[in-house]
Amino acid sequence: MKSVLVSLSALVGLAQVVYGQQSVWGQCGGIGYSGSTVCVSGACCTFQNAYYSQCLPGSCNPSGTQTTTRVSTTMATTTSRPGTSSTTTPNNPGSTSLSPGCGKGATLTSGTKSMTVNGKTRQYILRVPNNYDQNKPYRLIFGLHWLSGTMTDVATGQTVQRDVWSYYGLQQLAGESAIFVAPQGLNNGWANSGGEDITFIDQILSTVEAGLCVNQKLRFATGFSYGGAMSYSIACTRASVFRAVAVLSGGLLSGCSGGNDPIAYLGIHGIQDSVLNISGGRTLRDRFVRNNGCNSMSPAEPSQGSLTHIKTEYTGCRSGYPVTWIAFDAGHIAAPRDGSTGDSGSTFSSRETWSFFSQFT
Ligand SMILES: *[C@@H]1O[C@H](CO)[C@@H](O)[C@H](O)[C@H]1NC(C)=O
Repeated sequence: MKSVLVSLSALVGLAQVVYGQQSVWGQCGGIGYSGSTVCVSGACCTFQNAYYSQCLPGSCNPSGTQTTTRVSTTMATTTSRPGTSSTTTPNNPGSTSLSPGCGKGATLTSGTKSMTVNGKTRQYILRVPNNYDQNKPYRLIFGLHWLSGTMTDVATGQTVQRDVWSYYGLQQLAGESAIFVAPQGLNNGWANSGGEDITFIDQILSTVEAGLCVNQKLRFATGFSYGGAMSYSIACTRASVFRAVAVLSGGLLSGCSGGNDPIAYLGIHGIQDSVLNISGGRTLRDRFVRNNGCNSMSPAEPSQGSLTHIKTEYTGCRSGYPVTWIAFDAGHIAAPRDGSTGDSGSTFSSRETWSFFSQFT
């Protein structure tokens, strides 16, 4: 174990200087990918699926397959659980992993971008921090819109009537420490047909991380409703790529391809939700309660009329893979707060999501 630790930190050191090669955990292949397909020394480009190959620590043996699959350098527990794939290395805690854009002049600026994904034109809004520093590895946070919402709604926060609600309120709380992306769904939703929205996310990652300095261990996704469903789908399919998701009043609408790997998970849901009921929200949560090795619990939820919320942090989860559940006394709303069933005012949801994401450094 010790030797793995030493060689991994050596790898990370290397990754900081060799920008032509993909760093550990970075993407190195897949449909639509145009970045480097060469991993830093000591990492092997490993096929995950048609859309994603990833540089995993370990050397490629002569037949080109991965020899070192278990890397648990900083995890407190290394118990492998039945049904948990041992070939997908989780994006577990560890040193910073720099994206190819680190150390290069910013080639991307804030604004609306277009790209072609499976032959379709797709758009997203990018927000680069003020005083962007090419040598600083930033968090990368995706804000996914709700059904009939838009990327502009997420980026400006205007729809839910608060300027401070940009990127679900996270932009203000991050204080220029994060790069934000608001992708636009097809037909203002995230049907993710044939995985096309996951491919879109993959391509945004490649493009943004080629042009900007991102800490590849600190990728996050959140969204309300359909955007929560898409965040859940990302958790299922890209658990080794993203560090955490926050699913706000989500449901199973965007699929769950994969779904066997751990990822830090925050679920927030209204007990009176009549659009995507809380029972569905609990089911989404429980997948990651299992994957993350947490103790099974029945978190308390507020009673109707209490106008409060109750937060439960699951116990026993593998280190680096927490699960938190917040149930609130209101319906299908994006910005819940205590003392009201209405969708207005300062929401605990933004603060809780930021606190959940920013625990990872
Ligand atoms: C919750 O929603 C799901 C999916 O629409 C449905 O199958 C289920 O019956 C609902 N459960 C309750 C308790 O309303």
